[in-house]
Amino acid sequence: MNEQILDSFTKDALESARASNTYRTLRHIVSPEASHVKIACNGSGHAPTDTLLLASNSYLDLSNIDELKRSMADAVLQWGTGSGGARLTTGNKTPHDELEECIAQFKGEEAAITFNTGYMANVGTISALCGKNDFVFSDELNHASIIDGIRLSRASCKVYRHNDIADLERAIAEAKLEARSRGQDAKQEAKQDARPFRGLIVTDAVFSMDGDLANLPELLRVAREQDVLLMIDEAHATGVVGKTGRGLAEHYGCAHADVTVGTLSKAVAAEGGFVAGRQQLIDFLRNKARSFIFTTAMAPAIAAAACNNLRYIGSHPERVRQLQDNVKFFCEALKREGLGVQPSPSAIVPIVVGDEARALEVSATLQERGILIPAIRYPTVARGQARLRASLMATHTQEELQTAATAISQIIKSID
Ligand SMILES: Cc1ncc(COP(=O)(O)O)c(C=O)c1O
Repeated sequence: MNEQILDSFTKDALESARASNTYRTLRHIVSPEASHVKIACNGSGHAPTDTLLLASNSYLDLSNIDELKRSMADAVLQWGTGSGGARLTTGNKTPHDELEECIAQFKGEEAAITFNTGYMANVGTISALCGKNDFVFSDELNHASIIDGIRLSRASCKVYRHNDIADLERAIAEAKLEARSRGQDAKQEAKQDARPFRGLIVTDAVFSMDGDLANLPELLRVAREQDVLLMIDEAHATGVVGKTGRGLAEHYGCAHADVTVGTLSKAVAAEGGFVAGRQQLIDFLRNKARSFIFTTAMAPAIAAAACNNLRYIGSHPERVRQLQDNVKFFCEALKREGLGVQPSPSAIVPIVVGDEARALEVSATLQERGILIPAIRYPTVARGQARLRASLMATHTQEELQTAATAISQIIKSID
C-alpha cells in the first residue's frame, strides 16, 4: 500500500473536518432502539449509561412491540435470511408483492414499488424520470438523496428558496425561457432533439433538519398551472403527519402529489424505501429505475416486517395521536422554559444554537446528564445554523419530556 497516495485522497479532508469541528465518529449503542438506550462509554471500561433517547427516527417505537417482533421472526423462519436475487431475477417473493400492495393501500394510491432504502428510492426515481434536457426544481433544504438523484439525472437543477412558492414560480419561468432558447438553438442547428419543456418539482414533505412541512396545496397549484410533475418525499411524514399518519395529503385534506416517495426505516421501523402513485408510474420505475433493477431484493423477512408494521399503524391511529400529543407537549415545555421554539407539525423539534462548537457543548453536557439529542452541524445544515435536533417517540412520557426541556434550557443558559 502506498500511504502517500492514500494520503493524497484522504488526509486533507480529514484534517479540515477535525479543524472545523465537523469530524464524524460512531456512537456505540448496546441495546435496541427504544425511548431509553444503553450507550457504551468508548474504551473507558465504565458500564454503558442508561440514556433518554430524543434522537430516534423510530417515531412510533414499533420496534419494541412483541407482536411485531414475533411476526418478523416467523417471517425469517418461513422465508430465510436473504432474498437471493434481484427483484427482476429470482429475488421477488410473496412478501415483496404483499408489501407493495400494502403501501399502495396505506397511501391511497393505485400502486407502489419498493427499493432497498429511501435513499435508493429518491436516487432511482429522479434519475429515471429526468434526463439532461429536463429541469428539476428543488427546495434548498431537500435531503441529500434528492440532491444526489438530481445530479445523477444530469437534468438542469433550479434550487428555489426554502418553502418559497414565489421563488419556485420564478425558477420555473426562468427554466422555460432557457428551454425555449435551447429549442431555438437546436432548430437552427437542424437537430432532432428539440424536445418540449419537461419539469419536475421535488421536495421533502417534512424537512429533516427543521421539522417543518412543504406547502402541498400550493405546490399542487403551481404544478398544475405550469404543467410540471410534483414529487414529495414523505420519509419523515409517513406514520407521523395527518390524523392517521397517512402524510401530507391527509394533513392538508388535498390531492396527492404525482410521485410520493417514502421510507420504511423511520416510523415504520423496518427498512426500505418506496414510491406510490399511478400504475403507469410504477411500471415505468420497475423498468427504468437503476437502483431498483441492479441490486439484490431486500430480505423477504424485512418486507414482511414492513408490511405488518404498516398494517399495525393503519389499525392503531391512537399510536400516531400519542406521538402528536407528545410533540405538542414538548414544544410547549421548551417555550415555558424560555426557549424560542415554534410548535412542530412533525416529530422533529429543532433547537437552533448557532455556533458549531456551542451546539456540540450543549449536546455533550446533555449526554452527561443522561439525555441524547445530537448536535447537527455543517455540512448537514448551513454554517452557523448548528442545532440540537430532538425527535420524539410515541412512547416518551410527559415527565421525560419535561425533564429534557428543563435540562436543555439550563445548559443553554449556563454557557451563554
Ligand atoms: C427526507 C429523507 N429522505 C430520504 C431519506 C433516506 O431514507 P433511508 O434511511 O430509508 O435511506 C432520509 C433519511 O435517511 C430522509 O431524511
